[in-house]
Amino acid sequence: TKKAFVIGHPIAHSRSPLIHGTWLDQHGIDGSYEAIDVRPEALPAFFGRLRNGEFAGGNVTIPHKEAVFALCDEVDPLARTIGAVNTLVASEGRIWGTNTDYLGFLGNLDAGAPGWDKDLGSVILLGAGGATRALLVALKSRNVGHVHIVNRSRDKAEALVREIEGPFSAHGLDAFAELAPSAGLVVNATSIGMHGSRFEGFDLGLLPETALVTDIVYVPLVTPLLADAAARGLRTVDGLGMLLHQAVPGFAAWFGVTPEVTPQLRARIEATL
Ligand code: ATR
Repeated sequence: TKKAFVIGHPIAHSRSPLIHGTWLDQHGIDGSYEAIDVRPEALPAFFGRLRNGEFAGGNVTIPHKEAVFALCDEVDPLARTIGAVNTLVASEGRIWGTNTDYLGFLGNLDAGAPGWDKDLGSVILLGAGGATRALLVALKSRNVGHVHIVNRSRDKAEALVREIEGPFSAHGLDAFAELAPSAGLVVNATSIGMHGSRFEGFDLGLLPETALVTDIVYVPLVTPLLADAAARGLRTVDGLGMLLHQAVPGFAAWFGVTPEVTPQLRARIEATL
């Protein structure tokens, strides 16, 4: 039996066991995927179990994505740029780390808004926290036009622009009105929608009517930003697909089958939100 896991603290609310469990059943694989609560101080001991061959690998979530980075024997270059690891693969006592969040983001948009990256115009990326780094790497990999990082604290956006090379610039929240008319994509990478709030003073009516709006938060599934965008007649893609698509490469690496993100899988996870 091949075993995989997701580690985090807390971990009880993770949907990953249901996602991977669905795929294991579907493909009739003799494997397991369990959620394990690991406190930060227990991470090194957990890595000991991993090196001993107990697991084929697993996922890493909050608050361990940065700490795990330092414990891996090898980290792929994109995960290095992102500065965080969300997927581990164990092989012969060595641990390899990667970050599939950027693939999840791209897979979600590709499925939800095919052709989204063609003639896009500029991008407004809201937020400059941990999630933003993976999105910058993702957007750069598709050669989209200029990415404007818009954040409450402008200095955090500026630090990202200095750190990650690409066609990126940094702004405060007040820049939204000026940037909106030429933006083809608005991505919310902040946690603001989780608390049912929105960016006050953002007039989505200033966006082109072809603009696409997406949020990486999936609880609630329809964040205030997505609701406002839909009410304006703009296209929207919610964040649930990012969770589903980021899970694909890990499953393939541990269990040897590339699984599919189907409407049935989505419905099954959506029913638990
Ligand atoms: P992480 O690094 O784990 O992704 P974070 O550091 O809390 O999370 O960052 C979350 C992002 O949401 C940040 O860009 C934060 O803005 P600041 O850098 O100015 O703190 C943004 N954010 C969270 N709550 C917000 C709010 N109520 N209004 C505006 N921005 C908010």
